[in-house]
Amino acid sequence: MPNSAPQMSEQDLVAAVKEAQKQAYAPYSNFPVGAVIRTASGAVYSGCNVENASYPEGTCAEAGAIANMVMQGDRDIAEIYVIGNGDGLVSPCGGCRQRIREFSNPNTTIHICGPEGVRKVLTISELLPYSFGPEHLAPKQAG
Ligand code: THU
Repeated sequence: MPNSAPQMSEQDLVAAVKEAQKQAYAPYSNFPVGAVIRTASGAVYSGCNVENASYPEGTCAEAGAIANMVMQGDRDIAEIYVIGNGDGLVSPCGGCRQRIREFSNPNTTIHICGPEGVRKVLTISELLPYSFGPEHLAPKQAG
């Protein structure tokens, strides 16, 4: 469900990503992940990882949040919060970096969180340098 309450603060977004993580279905990895996107419009979309018995077919939290966003007709990621447990930085996997990139602009930020809050903030170009994107497929201008 999108939530476009007046511009959510970092504290609100951390709370929202913790709520998203609680919905994770991760009985195989026991590694619940949550993701929350805030778009340019101010709307917020959540996702969690959803695993299944055929292990490689599970989906990441970021993919779920992106699907929610697109389903609502929204496409411009201003920031995305991702949370996982443990001491390490739970940064988006390679596939999700590309998924985020599709709907990013140069100012899009990725907020990597742990149970205590935000651990690191990166831009999409720091996370996925020299990336391939939609503009590479755009037809060349005549002349
Ligand atoms: N996972 C995510 O949902 N997002 C990430 O950024 C990293 C990994 C999930 C996939 C799988 O369900 C579990 O974490 C363990 O890899």
